Amino acid sequence: MTQHDVLIVGSGAAGLTAALVLAERCKVLVLAKGALDGGSTNWAQGGIAAVLDEGDTFENHIHDTMIAGAGLNRRETVEFVVEHAPEAIRRLIALGVPFNAEQGSLHLTREGGHSHRRIVHVDDATGAAVQKALLKAAHDSPNITLLPGQTCIDLITGRHEAARYCGSGRVWGVYALDEATGKVEAHTARATILATGGAGRVYQFSTAPRGATGDGIAMAWRAGARVSNMEMMQFHPTCLYNLEVKNFLITEAVRGEGGRLINPRSGKRFMEFYDDRLELAPRDIVARAIDSEIKKFGLDFVHLDISHMPAEFVRGHFPNIYERLLGLGIDMTRQPIPVVPAQHYTCGGVLIDIDGRTDLPGLYAAGECTESGLHGANRLASNSLLECFVFGDLAARDILARWDSFETPPAVRPWDESRVTEADEEVVIKQNWTEIRRFMWNYVGIVRTNKRLERAAHRIKLLFDEVNDYYGHFRVSTDLIELRNLLQSAELIVRSAQARHESRGLHYNLDYPQTDAVARDTILVP
Ligand code: FAD
Ligand code: SIN
Repeated sequence: MTQHDVLIVGSGAAGLTAALVLAERCKVLVLAKGALDGGSTNWAQGGIAAVLDEGDTFENHIHDTMIAGAGLNRRETVEFVVEHAPEAIRRLIALGVPFNAEQGSLHLTREGGHSHRRIVHVDDATGAAVQKALLKAAHDSPNITLLPGQTCIDLITGRHEAARYCGSGRVWGVYALDEATGKVEAHTARATILATGGAGRVYQFSTAPRGATGDGIAMAWRAGARVSNMEMMQFHPTCLYNLEVKNFLITEAVRGEGGRLINPRSGKRFMEFYDDRLELAPRDIVARAIDSEIKKFGLDFVHLDISHMPAEFVRGHFPNIYERLLGLGIDMTRQPIPVVPAQHYTCGGVLIDIDGRTDLPGLYAAGECTESGLHGANRLASNSLLECFVFGDLAARDILARWDSFETPPAVRPWDESRVTEADEEVVIKQNWTEIRRFMWNYVGIVRTNKRLERAAHRIKLLFDEVNDYYGHFRVSTDLIELRNLLQSAELIVRSAQARHESRGLHYNLDYPQTDAVARDTILVP
């Protein structure tokens, strides 16, 4: 057993932001599954939204966020995050993030749903620059220990105290599998922050990295925390269509800088049939329009075309995407790019308050694994990294402010492996992973119906028995832990989707096409 002041699960934008603030006063352990830069943060392309232009206002950014979120956002959260965005950008600049600048000011690009140019960026690879700067600062801090290769399995609560059984939901840390040794260790702390990212890999097609399996959401749920709005899964309109490279995003900034969506069969620019804002309508609308064209015309993909812009401009704005596509035989300065929608962002998650606190004493959460009230029924582009910086900071400051009320963790029981054996058939895991991701894509995707949701719910019920039985009998591996969490996430998504009897934002159900007058969160209680 190891003991720390604060334990953070996740080394992306949310986790490392919190770690850097906490390290001013306490010792922090950061655990990450796989590599330290293995989360979505490292993959972010477009940038970070912040009001920095003279003609722009906080009210505009708040308004755009709430319009994209179809009124389901909590205004208090939206205001707080938007008003703290410029400060978050200043902190990143101080850490050395080399944002693009033009004539002495930050260059601001534009993305769908934004009424103004307000996206600061580092070319078309903002996330990698942010991840690098945060990791460097964390490595440099003597109070932060970074431990990659640790797959957390479950939260340690009062139920795991060694001296006596206690039903309390007080969180004392996590049990984590060391991916190299296969040993499970208990890591305890006075306070724990979940910053585990989203659950995108629950879908067959997703822009998210392999580890986005909803681990934090599932762990918090199993420990007794409420989750909210899990039906609000965002599909990015433009993921590269390529049979080998399955999850390469083509940033929304391509449309922001003039890219047009074309039906390859008719050769027509089709967004004019769907929305006055054309290619810069919010993501849910553009993704549904593409889905509709693909289904109506029996297409495999649509085209995203920016070849009408000067080649120099395209190469200058999108150097990484240009190079990557060139390697695949597509010259985006001359040819259109084949694209399809793919799952991109988990808007729902562990329910947190404005200080990043969950329902469970001692447990905080920040970033994509949470539902903070910022995104509502659909996230506005480039608001998610921003949420990580603001809520990572908030959670850390709340812990510091309440430090004296956090007791030293008690001794906890070690992980019990006495009743499990080595797995006999790895194929069971692979089969179930594939099955979940397929039926979630087909039945719980961009357009839903009651019948499809029922089918998905039925399959989940069957798989639960099989996966729980397997989990109960065999030694844990990262694949098995992820499968269990993927299935739990799928269950929460389907249950939430079935509970919403309207269409709003990202949740579009043909059996309930209307939008109710009053916006209500879908809050699930364990
Ligand atoms: P992540 O960065 O995903 O980090 C999760 C961390 O948790 C990782 O360290 C992982 O190892 C760890 N973890 C997970 N499970 C476990 C476990 N069981 N045990 C231990 N550790 C665990 N947003 C924007 O605002 N602007 C953009 O331009 C943008 N572009 C994007 C492009 C792509 C391709 C993708 C996929 C997303 C993009 N997003 C963008 C969304 C944004 O990147 C993410 O929402 C954000 O980075 C999430 O950060 P996070 O800190 O919450 O989680
Ligand atoms: C993109 O670059 O299109 C992604 C931006 C985001 O997800 O916020």
